[in-house]
Amino acid sequence: MKNAAKPYLIIFAFGIVAIFFMSFIGLNNMDEIAAEKEGGGEKTEDTASATPEEIYKQSCIACHGDQYQGAVGPALKGITKSQDEIKEILVNGTDKGMPAGLIPGQEDAVAEWLTTLK
Ligand code: HEC
Repeated sequence: MKNAAKPYLIIFAFGIVAIFFMSFIGLNNMDEIAAEKEGGGEKTEDTASATPEEIYKQSCIACHGDQYQGAVGPALKGITKSQDEIKEILVNGTDKGMPAGLIPGQEDAVAEWLTTLK
């Protein structure tokens, strides 16, 4: 009886050792996956901190032109409105075709940048 059980005990022992090693490998992978996730997080931060120019290219260029010369919307070069007035337009839009809420949270930076366009 004892001898018959021995191979099973050996397999059992190997099994335990194997599980032990696998969980170590798993822990290593977990660190790597966590590191990758952190890297991905940085990427989202990059988009969040896009420069006003990049935001313009994404959200405004179709209506205001690649040289800010205007198209559907008016030219933005040499704009005479103040930063606050521009911000107000960016947040609320206008009833003559400027859409509201295109760049939530970025209005201030973009408005300031627009006042510097020459
Ligand atoms: C769907 C087309 C469209 C898009 C997209 C658009 N605009 Fe406009 N925009 C307009 C139109 C049309 C007007 C003129 C509205 C009016 O006269 O009331 C305007 C007006 C403005 C004005 C006021 C200009 C002035 O001299 O009175 C500013 C500033 C402006 N847009 C900035 C932006 C910015 C920044 C973006 C990108 C976040 C943007 N617009 C995206 C169509 C657009």
